[in-house]
Amino acid sequence: MMKSVDKFEKISELARRRGFFWQSYEIYGGVSGFISWGPFGAAMKRRIEDKFRDIFLRRLNFYEVETPIIAPERVFKASGHIEHFKEPMVECLKCKRKFRADHLLQELAGIASQETDRMGLQEIKHEIEVRKIKCPDCGGEFSEPRYFLTMFQTNIGPYSESVGYGRPEAAQGIFVEFKRLYEQVRERLPIGFAQIGHALRNEISPRQGPIRLREFTIIDLEFFFDPENPRCPLLSEVEDEKLRIVLARNRLRGDESPVELTVKEVVANGYVMVEWLAFFMALGKRFVTSLGIPEDKQRFIEKHPWERAHYSAQGFDQEVYLERWGWVEVAGFNYRTDYDLKGHMMESDVDMRVFKPSDKVTTRTEMRVKPKLQNISREFGEKTPEVVNLLKSVRSEDLIKSFNEKGFYEVGRLKITPEHVEIVLEEVKDEGKRFIPHVIEPSFGSDRLTYAALEYAYTIKDGRVVLKLPRDIAPVQIAVLPLVSRDGLPEKAREIYKMLIDEGFTVEYDESGYIGRRYARFDEIGVPLCVTIDYQTLKDNTVTIRDRDTWRQIRVEIARLPWLIYNYLRYKINFEDMGPPIEK
Ligand code: GLY
Repeated sequence: MMKSVDKFEKISELARRRGFFWQSYEIYGGVSGFISWGPFGAAMKRRIEDKFRDIFLRRLNFYEVETPIIAPERVFKASGHIEHFKEPMVECLKCKRKFRADHLLQELAGIASQETDRMGLQEIKHEIEVRKIKCPDCGGEFSEPRYFLTMFQTNIGPYSESVGYGRPEAAQGIFVEFKRLYEQVRERLPIGFAQIGHALRNEISPRQGPIRLREFTIIDLEFFFDPENPRCPLLSEVEDEKLRIVLARNRLRGDESPVELTVKEVVANGYVMVEWLAFFMALGKRFVTSLGIPEDKQRFIEKHPWERAHYSAQGFDQEVYLERWGWVEVAGFNYRTDYDLKGHMMESDVDMRVFKPSDKVTTRTEMRVKPKLQNISREFGEKTPEVVNLLKSVRSEDLIKSFNEKGFYEVGRLKITPEHVEIVLEEVKDEGKRFIPHVIEPSFGSDRLTYAALEYAYTIKDGRVVLKLPRDIAPVQIAVLPLVSRDGLPEKAREIYKMLIDEGFTVEYDESGYIGRRYARFDEIGVPLCVTIDYQTLKDNTVTIRDRDTWRQIRVEIARLPWLIYNYLRYKINFEDMGPPIEK
């Protein structure tokens, strides 16, 4: 029986042949976990990223930054990645191949990821033994499982002690620069900063093409807000948006079916810890839908505590359904609290707090304990600094409370008496307070989104491929084609081509071969419109425009082309609105 070819294989074939993506380093046999995006794939991916910029940055008045890919070890110590960013691994003792141990349990023993995620090394070992799991390649026994740090390690400069890591997320570049960024936006909260760039994760054994990559493009948006003021004033703009959510409480009962809830219901039922989380999930749904992925092929999964990243207090993965792999995460929405800024504040000793002025300045009287230096030094001599530090470190009221009937304060090992301290009353002005902002993070995988958009665009019409990409993410927007390559038609077509290029469109010109073959070539890479120059063009300055999806044609004046195409690509007008149909 012939093996059926799935969509991933079909898309991979098209992607390699026409320049969307393929496995990198092909001439050296290929390396898994790396792909190269060709001209059309890179252009399409860029348009998807631009769409993110439009929805999440431009419209919300947030900003984009660009920070380095390599960071010194301290950054990832502070962020918790050195401690937590690791995966369980086993090695085949016979063929020496290494595997993600949790993936083996999922794939070979059918254990759900929500179970494997909570297993420690001992439980993994136990499951491998009792289920008699052997190497899928050679049948060999496995080693003891151990953790593998999935960050790429390097040295910064020629110094072995100067350890650096490739960033596994773009977020940390924003957290480490937060203090400066906050000043630059004139201390505005709430505020969002995004970064779109390469991230590196040294996956143990990636075998899923563009879905699990060792180097990929991450789109991280870090949204900072005051935890005492967590309301989202923009909620009304999305409150009727329906979200399909698999709730953690249902998952615990083994129910993985999504419930459909409006954003308003999600918030009213307290399913999100912060309103902004629901707001960004709604934007995430709109964004992914606009890439051509139907609503019923999307869902949000609320993660269990043991499935969440170490920095997350609540997290939802946005998933899309892909033919080969089933539900695949394309985005994560996490409430990162003050985890990251606090970590960097502790590691760097730099104050990451922001100042919130009080509505009105108040004054209050506070008791303060002042060390009497002369008396302290007379009695404690060289231990004086120790005593002074101790007195500085305890709160005045605690010190006063600790006074005992024996006549000294019970703090520390040293006997401090009223001789050593003076208690004064001080007026303290309450002008405001300092706090660490909290963070909500929507984070998208740009490569996965691009692949998913390709999979949903891939259709067969009359036995050939038509890539029905949304108009605004198609890598090439227009093809300009003379009907035949003689009689002055190519010259006229080149004039139109140049005019459309000057107008800022992405245009291809092609005069080789039969017109039908040329249409087919452009359908295959998803060009929404073909503009054809024929003999009538020379008479009345009109051209035909052909719609990729319906193959219908209309005739329009050349002078109107830029306006019509501009509005068509932005979904402001339909194809039928552009001009009269051509009767066949
Ligand atoms: N910054 C998002 C992530 O690491 O997945």
